[in-house]
Amino acid sequence: MRAFPPVNPRAPFIWHGGDYNPEQWPRVVWDEDMRLMQECHFEVATVGVFSWVSLQPEEDRFTFEWLDEVLEKLAGAGRKVCLATPSAAQPAWLSQRYPDVLRVDAWGRRHHHGWRVNYCPTSPDYQRLSVQIARKLAERYHAHPALLAWHVSNEYLSPCYCATCAVAFVAWLQQRYASLDELNQRWWTSFWSHTYTDWSQIEPPYANGEESIHAQVIDYRRFQNDMMLECYKRERAAIRIYSPDIPITTNLMNTYPNLDYRTWAREVDVIAWDCYPGPRDQPADIAFAHDLMRGLRDGQPFLLMEQAPGNQNWQEQNTLKRPGVLRLQSYLALAHGAEAIMYFQWRRSRGSFEKMHSAVIEHSGRSDTRMFREVQQLGSELQRLQDRTLGGVTPAGVAILFDWPNWWAIEASSGPVRDKRYVATVHQHHAAFWQANVPVDIVFSDSDFSRYRLLIAPMLYMLRPGVAERVAAFVEQGGTFVTTYFSGIVDECDLVFEGGYPGPLRPVLGIWNEEIDALLPDQQNRIIMSEDSAEYTCGHLCALIHSEGATVLATYGDDFYAGTPVVTRNSYGAGQAYYLASSPEPRFLADFYTRLRAEQRIQPVLASPVGVEVTCRRTERETLLFVLNHLPAPAQIALPENRHYRDLLSERDVAGVVDLAGYGVMILADE
Ligand code: GLA
Ligand code: ZN
Repeated sequence: MRAFPPVNPRAPFIWHGGDYNPEQWPRVVWDEDMRLMQECHFEVATVGVFSWVSLQPEEDRFTFEWLDEVLEKLAGAGRKVCLATPSAAQPAWLSQRYPDVLRVDAWGRRHHHGWRVNYCPTSPDYQRLSVQIARKLAERYHAHPALLAWHVSNEYLSPCYCATCAVAFVAWLQQRYASLDELNQRWWTSFWSHTYTDWSQIEPPYANGEESIHAQVIDYRRFQNDMMLECYKRERAAIRIYSPDIPITTNLMNTYPNLDYRTWAREVDVIAWDCYPGPRDQPADIAFAHDLMRGLRDGQPFLLMEQAPGNQNWQEQNTLKRPGVLRLQSYLALAHGAEAIMYFQWRRSRGSFEKMHSAVIEHSGRSDTRMFREVQQLGSELQRLQDRTLGGVTPAGVAILFDWPNWWAIEASSGPVRDKRYVATVHQHHAAFWQANVPVDIVFSDSDFSRYRLLIAPMLYMLRPGVAERVAAFVEQGGTFVTTYFSGIVDECDLVFEGGYPGPLRPVLGIWNEEIDALLPDQQNRIIMSEDSAEYTCGHLCALIHSEGATVLATYGDDFYAGTPVVTRNSYGAGQAYYLASSPEPRFLADFYTRLRAEQRIQPVLASPVGVEVTCRRTERETLLFVLNHLPAPAQIALPENRHYRDLLSERDVAGVVDLAGYGVMILADE
């Protein structure tokens, strides 16, 4: 496993900075901004997000002079720039002149002008004008000395249901299916007399229209994903002409439901993402999100493009980040692969939607604030780290599979239970490893599985072509595979596999899933381990299975299927394939995976008390340990015996049993 090169060789350090919106402020404030940025080591400013009307106040008038001046000031002050195209929010004049640019909702209602990401991705006017402004920016600024990266648009959102999209959808389907007959068959439209007799009859799945053909719903999501991605690619192409060497990206949003980020990952030079944990998100959930983002480009480090400096979730519940938590969460990102720690935003706006959102410079305009000091301390620490963590990879032997189209198909399916909990289930499996300090990679249906010893695919309901074969090859060659209930049910068109679940995974798992029982939220069954009669609870969905050669490791404890298998293991080639027939309590997963890890000799990075995370990154030079205390109370951690480390943050030598402050962090290098 090789370390990765820096995102931009011109800036081989951890980028510290964030969104800067000088267009909202008078010029007198700009000089003050430069002074304060210097003071808190805010090195990289993301400029231009949402500045369309400031750059193009009328269709045939462009006003780049203010941006020239801002970039000059930033460069003069030694800052670097991530330059954004403004296409996430079209100006009012544009919506007014070209109303077809405005998005249409699932009920077929055209939106009024307002908000942002309110454009139709297939609108020719939107396409023409967004590409034009991107091209003009690239033409003007491609050689700017401060330019580090291009930030195309902002947080793409889907979908649109307008007439232009409806027509484009049919064209997209004609590309995908050889004939209307084939589409009818694969969509199972003979059901309820839904057979299409002409292409022109096919509409988007409106909320008051065709939502009953699952394959149509899923294909519409694929189609909208493709249309949004085309918007990105069009702008990227316009930029690339002038700026072939500067990395181009856009900012993603964790498990945003409506875009398949694995398809986006191929089109960006580096993953950038915006981390806004909700008030109830646990450190394990945030760690999962970073692992997911790092997985998108097969382990390449990513940019943490935005995080709120001061609040967790600002609208619903504006809880302040406790002192030290911004620092802790920033190092959490770094520990899982970040090479930039950036904020939204530099200066808190005086009015409109985000005036209650935290910023480095609050409404007081002062720098003697807790926020400013925390940002300043973090900035100076990151500066001291220099390039020490850069390019570091996560040496994971465990992979957990996450798949957007699978999620879409699970969501589209009417039954066997309304709340399917796909994302929560993937989180649960990830958390079992996170709690044990075992690094995990998140992988996708098209990833190379052979890099791992343990591959876990919770609820892999939809098997896309070739996936079952690749899983079988992985196990045959000695890998350990784990999957669960509600796997191997449908093909990529949501057509159920004939001959019994889990479809093409049956041979490798050695089981047949005959029925699926959906339990009410207050109902449970029990898992009884065959070996030692240990018991765990389970629920949600219970697959009723038969062994077709698999060893039964546990049986259900209750109901009419008591005594039938709930956990099985099948030997296949040189490997093993496990099936979990129901959703277990977390304690089961902890025990189960401890056992599997022991068999596979997959070691934790280090043992630690509950609430203290230890993980690592391997650079070309060394392996760095990240020790993160996620609790407010101090903790003690026992370092491996006879090893001497240097904590790169405190610049102290440490060994033996070490005290860690509440929310404290250490980055340990071998002495
Ligand atoms: C997103 C956007 C920013 C800002 C923040 C607020 O991440 O990209 O422009 O709206 O949310 O949290
Ligand atoms: Zn549209």
